Amino acid sequence: MKTIYLIGIGPGDPDALTLAAIKAMRRVDVFFVLEKEGEGKDSLIRFRREILERHASDRPYRIATGASPKRDRESADYAGAVEDWRKRRTQVIADLIDTEMADGEIGGFLLWGDPALYDGTLQNLHDLIADGRDDVTFEVFPGITCVQALTARHKVTLNRVGESITITTGRQIETGDPAAVTNSVVMLDSRDAFRRLADQPDMDIFWGGDVGTPDEVLIAGPLGDVAERISRTIQDQRARKGWVMDTYLLRRRAPKGG
Ligand SMILES: C[S@@+](CC[C@H](N)C(=O)[O-])C[C@H]1O[C@@H](n2cnc3c(N)ncnc32)[C@H](O)[C@@H]1O
Repeated sequence: MKTIYLIGIGPGDPDALTLAAIKAMRRVDVFFVLEKEGEGKDSLIRFRREILERHASDRPYRIATGASPKRDRESADYAGAVEDWRKRRTQVIADLIDTEMADGEIGGFLLWGDPALYDGTLQNLHDLIADGRDDVTFEVFPGITCVQALTARHKVTLNRVGESITITTGRQIETGDPAAVTNSVVMLDSRDAFRRLADQPDMDIFWGGDVGTPDEVLIAGPLGDVAERISRTIQDQRARKGWVMDTYLLRRRAPKGG
């Protein structure tokens, strides 16, 4: 049997690893890195290597890299394009398991934040096993998400009393009903989707770029007042280092006395 560990490593602060994640890393024989072209590739890989050097350097392990398949972002069929990408990614992982692992070994993925939040690897493993790979099993080690890092840095609760909280994407904010946004965390926003809600008079934003890293920037306030500043900050960060990862909480102020 070959065992795969999906290990959450937090959103960029090497101190935000759990003890369980460190213990799991120290049992891994081969770490898999899927190299992606584009945003922040080098620094994300560098961060993983740094973590390994810090926590697992006193024991032997191997690193095996595979090319992460590209997703067709121009396709009109969004769901179809994602499905196709998912299948190709599952195949890359299956090939790595076949060529880089011996029976009885443990393979590991160091996954950004938590493996269950906007990361496809967990589903890739389910797909692979559903395809008939009965020689493979896997375990998940949770990590601190960027959502937790964001709320901690802004010192806000994720939910207000008795209220639900939505976690969504920039794409949904761009196309959805602005009136339906009352308390939402937004991730994966490459086009400043918050600007669409900047005319909502009662909306606050708690924004964080590269939270927990040395490049962290935090901005909070009434959305209409700070949207422009956030956009400028994103542009500056992109100009300086090519990319920024940002997450934000959009929260409609409760009516006075309500
Ligand atoms: C593919 S998702 C992965 C999320 C990750 N699994 C987690 O649990 O945080 C990538 C998105 O997470 C958010 N993100 C990840 N790290 C971040 C950080 N350090 N600061 C702000 N946002 C971050 C951004 O919205 C980015 O587009």
